[in-house]
Amino acid sequence: MKHQMFLLILAESFIKEQLIPTPKECKMKKGVFLSFEGIDGCGKTTQIMNLEDYLKKKDVPVITAREPGGTALGGGIRRMLKYPEETYKLLNERYKNNKDFVLLPVEQLRTFESEIFLFLAARAEFVNYIVEPNLNKGVSVIADRFADSTRAYQGGGIAKSNPRIIELINKNHDFILKRYWPDKTFFLDINYEVSKHRLGLINAGNDDFEKRKKDFFEGIIREYHNIAKENPKRVVVINGTKSIDDIFNNDILPYVNSIYGF
Ligand SMILES: Nc1ncnc2c1ncn2[C@@H]1O[C@H](COP(=O)(O)OP(=O)(O)OP(=O)(O)O)[C@@H](O)[C@H]1O
Ligand SMILES: [Mg+2]
Repeated sequence: MKHQMFLLILAESFIKEQLIPTPKECKMKKGVFLSFEGIDGCGKTTQIMNLEDYLKKKDVPVITAREPGGTALGGGIRRMLKYPEETYKLLNERYKNNKDFVLLPVEQLRTFESEIFLFLAARAEFVNYIVEPNLNKGVSVIADRFADSTRAYQGGGIAKSNPRIIELINKNHDFILKRYWPDKTFFLDINYEVSKHRLGLINAGNDDFEKRKKDFFEGIIREYHNIAKENPKRVVVINGTKSIDDIFNNDILPYVNSIYGF
């Protein structure tokens, strides 16, 4: 009984804390949350650098963050997701004589289910430790990829837009993000060929994600469009093959200026 009461109080305080802004919070000027999405090489980082410069010149306090962006658990998870073998080998080396450790079978591939939940776990840390505190103290946050990337890559690319998986990802995002969905998301739309061409020019790196192929990327692009259709107020679809300046001046700045009242 005592235990149940405790859980009830805990649940109530969790709900209050997580879902209902206090009157004080409502009066404070919040930062703006912007995210950039699209397949590899679509120009996210390029446009974000321009936008950060622009906002700084306007004296807007702003940080650019890429998940897991300096969170402890998120950073560890990210390393395991992107470079699993290397990470497992390091752990094996470090803990091989530890009684509380069984050697990790480094060749064992992670399951698809785990992949989703690991991304979501890293995102929960990012929302709590980076997004929420910055927005609450009036600092705008620009995210180089965010929630839509999981729906697009895992939901669209791997699960081929299976409605059950998409629903699962959506529900978990509602739980993890609370009210911290971006105010605006810029989706830079390019096709697989343009992506490959651009990444070929800059030597794309060799992590797990970049090894996957054309149908994977087409699934991702299709799911990004599904997201945009479902969220027409939040997501701006941009033709990412236009010039860098054209995109910045004509597709990004008008929204930014209107949000900040410039
Ligand atoms: N609109 C554009 N037209 C032509 N080239 C572009 C354009 N935008 C970016 N590029 C070039 O394409 C390459 C990839 O751009 P960028 O790194 O900004 O993409 P990204 O979306 O951040 O990629 P990733 O997902 O791999 O981090 C860079 O060499 C960049 O200069
Ligand atoms: Mg980038």
